[in-house]
Amino acid sequence: MKFVAYMSFQTQMMTQKDVEDFLLYIREKNSRLGITGILLLIQGKFIQYIEGPSTKIDKLYKTIEKDKRHKDMMLLDTGSINEQQFKDWSMAYHEVSEKQVKDIMKDKSLDLKKIFIPKEKDNHPALEVLYNFVNTLTK
Ligand SMILES: Cc1cc2nc3c(=O)[nH]c(=O)nc-3n(C[C@H](O)[C@H](O)[C@H](O)COP(=O)(O)O)c2cc1C
Repeated sequence: MKFVAYMSFQTQMMTQKDVEDFLLYIREKNSRLGITGILLLIQGKFIQYIEGPSTKIDKLYKTIEKDKRHKDMMLLDTGSINEQQFKDWSMAYHEVSEKQVKDIMKDKSLDLKKIFIPKEKDNHPALEVLYNFVNTLTK
């Protein structure tokens, strides 16, 4: 099994209803594929973590990359896992407030364009935010 984490930029406004329909659709599809994860929306940026069977994840990642609802997808982290962390979440979703972003990132910016597979200490700020939520949801 594998996981992938990326950040991207929203290209269009989504109403509450759009978001609900979108989540209903992807949760149903993820359940079918055995994929779990979390999606964050932060100031017009998506940060998503998906995990599941490797071939399914690769295929979904390619599909998501073509989605016109966002652009400039950048890979933050990927790797193999023995076990899924989000057993109960076909796709957890959270809109992160300005205050939460500040609390987690202090004065760092999410707009960092540097693309790298992060080392232990030097994570992209988006990953710090992501893993902060991953930890609260999977405890
Ligand atoms: C930010 C973002 C995250 C997405 N996450 C998922 C996801 O976790 N699972 C999924 O099936 N589709 C996801 N999608 C939607 C896919 O891009 C695509 O529209 C959908 O999988 C198409 O499914 P279908 O071709 O089987 O109808 C996401 C789209 C965006 C813009």
